[in-house]
Amino acid sequence: MGVFVCSSQKMSYLCHRLTQVVVKAYGTLDEWLSQWSAKPCTAVRIRQVPQRALEGALFFIVIISIMADNYLEKRMEQYRSRLIATSSSKSKDGLGALLVKNRSTRGYDASYTVRADQLYRIVSVNSKIASARNRQPLRFRLVTVDEASKVQPFIRMGAGMKELQLPVEGTAPNAFIVICSTIEPRNSTFVDLGISVQSMLLQAVEMGLNGLCIMDFDSAGLVDALQLPHKPLLVMAIGKSAESIILVDIKESDDHAYYRKDGVHYVPKVVVEDLIIK
Ligand SMILES: Cc1cc2nc3c(=O)[nH]c(=O)nc-3n(C[C@H](O)[C@H](O)[C@H](O)COP(=O)(O)O)c2cc1C
Repeated sequence: MGVFVCSSQKMSYLCHRLTQVVVKAYGTLDEWLSQWSAKPCTAVRIRQVPQRALEGALFFIVIISIMADNYLEKRMEQYRSRLIATSSSKSKDGLGALLVKNRSTRGYDASYTVRADQLYRIVSVNSKIASARNRQPLRFRLVTVDEASKVQPFIRMGAGMKELQLPVEGTAPNAFIVICSTIEPRNSTFVDLGISVQSMLLQAVEMGLNGLCIMDFDSAGLVDALQLPHKPLLVMAIGKSAESIILVDIKESDDHAYYRKDGVHYVPKVVVEDLIIK
């Protein structure tokens, strides 16, 4: 309130001064104009308006300008944050670009063999990430091409597209990271798991590879095939993508199901405006 009174006093003073300037200016202008025209000009009429009314009008104009200024500042802020978001998704190696490239890939280039050192580098991100109570219960089994056949029969891909049998023949992944937990999984273990797999996928994408999170697998079969000492929580396939995948903007109410058309895999994603709780 104090601030408002103080600022409105300042404003009246400002308007008063402005009025004086305007009257003075129009006075001079009127004289100047009368040299060029015989007709009564607007300036003459303005000079005849009572000074109080002119002050009121100017006060109104100043308030409107302040409101417009606030509005413009807000719009400018929105524009700046949009610019940052766009530039990060446009920058070749920025996070935005990595996120777009990081698509769940179910078809891989069979001529490309993922090496053990590449899997090691991907798993190494886990020494740099968050973990609830810093417990770090996750353990990783690296599976390269020589053992890929021990994993392939126990995983299922693309359950959302029942009409397709994935992977398409000749495009099965030949490298995996099987993620296990040393403790009985609780909520925080799954949060750890999410942070871990996303970090590993982004690392893989940065290395020119792609991956897929697989939770639809035969746990007992895998434990047996790989002689795992811990329960597996998730299998991550890694390889060189042989797929063409496109993100599609959708509204919250639209169908979220991913689909394929003319050999291209489309993934609908809800636009940010619909993700924010209003
Ligand atoms: C926790 C989790 C488990 C998933 N399990 C499977 C799976 O078992 N099989 C599969 O084909 N895709 C699986 N996916 C991949 C999703 O289907 C995929 O993320 C979704 O279709 C969106 O595609 P995008 O990752 O390219 O954005 C899984 C993804 C997540 C995050």
